[in-house]
Amino acid sequence: DRVPRVFSGIQPTSDSFHLGNYLGALRQWVALQDTSDAFYCVVDLHAITVDHDPKVLHERSRVSAAQLLALGIDPERSTLFVQSQVPEHAMLAWIMGCETGFGEASRMTQFKDKSAKQERTTVGLFTYPILQVADILLYQTERVPVGEDQRQHLELSRDLAIRFNNTYGQTFTVPDVHIVKETATIKDLAEPEKKMSKSSASPRGCLYLLDEPNQMRKKVKSAVTDSEAEVRYDPDAKPGVSNLMNIYAALGNTTIEKLEAEYAGRGYGDFKGDLADVVADYLGPISARTKEFLADKAELDRILVKGAEKARHVASRTLAKAYKKVGF
Ligand code: ADP
Ligand code: NA
Repeated sequence: DRVPRVFSGIQPTSDSFHLGNYLGALRQWVALQDTSDAFYCVVDLHAITVDHDPKVLHERSRVSAAQLLALGIDPERSTLFVQSQVPEHAMLAWIMGCETGFGEASRMTQFKDKSAKQERTTVGLFTYPILQVADILLYQTERVPVGEDQRQHLELSRDLAIRFNNTYGQTFTVPDVHIVKETATIKDLAEPEKKMSKSSASPRGCLYLLDEPNQMRKKVKSAVTDSEAEVRYDPDAKPGVSNLMNIYAALGNTTIEKLEAEYAGRGYGDFKGDLADVVADYLGPISARTKEFLADKAELDRILVKGAEKARHVASRTLAKAYKKVGF
C-alpha cells in the first residue's frame, strides 16, 4: 500500500528554531515519518523575501538542517533538502503566480503583518505564499504539518491545485493541512496575547531550541502570567498560564486536567519551576546533537546532496506535467 506523501518547510532565518516552530510543526514532522513518505525542506528562497545577510544565510541553512537531524528527522526515511538546490520550486512558482488573482494574493494576512515590520517591502514578500504553493504541489503532497499561522496559505494551495486541475486536467494532488490543535499557536512568553516568534519584542519572549538550559529556565520562570495564582486552563482570560500549560502537557507527556489537579492550591512558583525543568530536560540535549551533525561536514553535505537529488526526481516530474499542461 502507498503511504501518504507529506511535505513541509521551515525558513533558515535565525540561528535557532524556537519552541513555537517545534511544537507547532517540527514535532509533527518527526512523528509523521513513521506513517508517511515525507519531504522536509529548509526554505532559503523564502528567507530572502525580507532583509537578510548573505554572509550568514548559507551557514544558517546548514545549522537548520543539523537541528532537524538533531530533532529526529531521519534522512534514511525522509527526504531532507535545501530549497535553492531544487530549481523546480522557483519554476513552478512562476506558473502558479500566473494562475493566482491579484486580489486573491492581496488577501494574505501574513504579508500585511510581515511587511509592516520591514523598512522596505519586496514583491518577493508579496508572492511568498505562491512560492509556498509551488513547494507543496511539486511533491503531490497529501498532508502539510504546520502551525496555525500557515492555515491561510494552505487554503490558497488547495484553491490553486483545484483550479489548475479544473482548467488543465488532473495535475496536482490537493493537499490537506495537518495542524495539532493544542499546540497550533504557541504564545510569546513575555506577551502571551501574541504568537511566539523570533521577532519577539522582548528577549525573554522567545524560547530557542539552542538556548542554554539555564537561559531556558530563566525564560520560563519569568514568563508573564496574571495576578491570580491559580493554575487553571482558560486561554481567553488566562493566556499566559494556559500557554505554559499547553507547553507542559506537550513536553511533559501529561494532560491539562492532570496539571490542574496537580497544581491545585499551589500557585505559579512551583508550576513554573517544574515546567522550567521539563523544558530544559527535553530541549537541553538538542544543542549537543546539533553540534555533532555540524561537526561532520562531509556527512551533512552528503545528506543534503542526496536529499536534493531525491527531491528533484519527484519535483521534475510534476514540473514537466505542469509545463505540458500550460502549453510549453
Ligand atoms: P517563523 O514563524 O518563526 O518565521 P517559519 O515561518 O519558518 O518560522 O515557520 C516554521 C513553522 O513553524 C511553520 O509551520 C509555522 O506555522 C510554525 N510556527 C511558527 N511560529 C509558531 C508558533 N508560535 N506556534 C506554533 N507554530 C509556529
Ligand atoms: Na511563520
